[in-house]
Amino acid sequence: MQAIDVALEKFTQLACPIDGLVLQHHDGTLKCEQGHSYDIARQAYVNLLPVQHKKSRDPGDSKAMVTARARFLNAGFYAPIASRLAELSLEYSAGTSSLSCVDAGCGDGYYLDYFYHYLEQQHAQAEYMLTGLDISKWAILAAAKRNRDITWVVGNSQYAPVCADSVDILWSVFGFSHGAGFSKMLHTAGKLIRVDAGPDHLLELREIIYPVVRRVDQSSAVVRQEVGFRQIDNQSLCYQTAAVGQPLLSDLLLMTPHLYRASHEGKQALQQIEQMVLTVDVRYSVLEPV
Ligand SMILES: C[S@@+](CC[C@H](N)C(=O)[O-])C[C@H]1O[C@@H](n2cnc3c(N)ncnc32)[C@H](O)[C@@H]1O
Repeated sequence: MQAIDVALEKFTQLACPIDGLVLQHHDGTLKCEQGHSYDIARQAYVNLLPVQHKKSRDPGDSKAMVTARARFLNAGFYAPIASRLAELSLEYSAGTSSLSCVDAGCGDGYYLDYFYHYLEQQHAQAEYMLTGLDISKWAILAAAKRNRDITWVVGNSQYAPVCADSVDILWSVFGFSHGAGFSKMLHTAGKLIRVDAGPDHLLELREIIYPVVRRVDQSSAVVRQEVGFRQIDNQSLCYQTAAVGQPLLSDLLLMTPHLYRASHEGKQALQQIEQMVLTVDVRYSVLEPV
């Protein structure tokens, strides 16, 4: 195996969100042949989200949600999730001399940053191109602070401002299904890896915030929504965290859909909890284009 020298040049493999043409890098600007141009921000990211791809003025996760997620993830409780994702991604990209991995809905970039350091330690791929895509500018600003060697893009996964057929490994971690956008980015031998909550995920927290807890495996429903893909592997990861204290318990609530579903009383009850051990139960689904 060859050692990693440098990551491939940043901001390659991106496509114009308006006409889908390849974006070329010229002195801090990305331009397509039709003349659409996008500045690379001094914080080391590019905004490829035209107004017609937004449903609101400030789409995606808010600044408060992004900050809460970063604080919780930085405490390391989800490091085993990142570790298994890195292992699976390497396993499913074996044989590619240069690896292109896109994290769709990358949030504050925790998982991609983990993968970057994992690849450096493994010396597995000679070259690699890691791209984080999120519709929230707050998420991408936080991600760009984490790691300037990764390409960070404000963009909508549905329209996928990434060159067609260019991606080996595409992630959706606790994210949405964007079948058409996902198929467009992946090349025919590429793999989509989804990470979704299993039935017991954060069970102890849910027992506090809901009067009745439904132990449903939502991951299979999400996988079924990935039109244009077939599942080729399905793995689980279950473990108990160390005790999670406040304010991280409240941060955790802020970064999950439970924030919208829990009642006011449920949220207040969680604030009274000083610390708790949590069950982590996640499902990894590996899918390939059909
Ligand atoms: C539940 S969060 C998960 C973030 C990250 N994957 C993690 O697990 O830490 C979902 C993320 O998807 C982003 N998002 C929502 N709709 C999107 C879209 N259409 N395109 C790209 N990102 C989107 C949100 O802004 C948010 O950061």
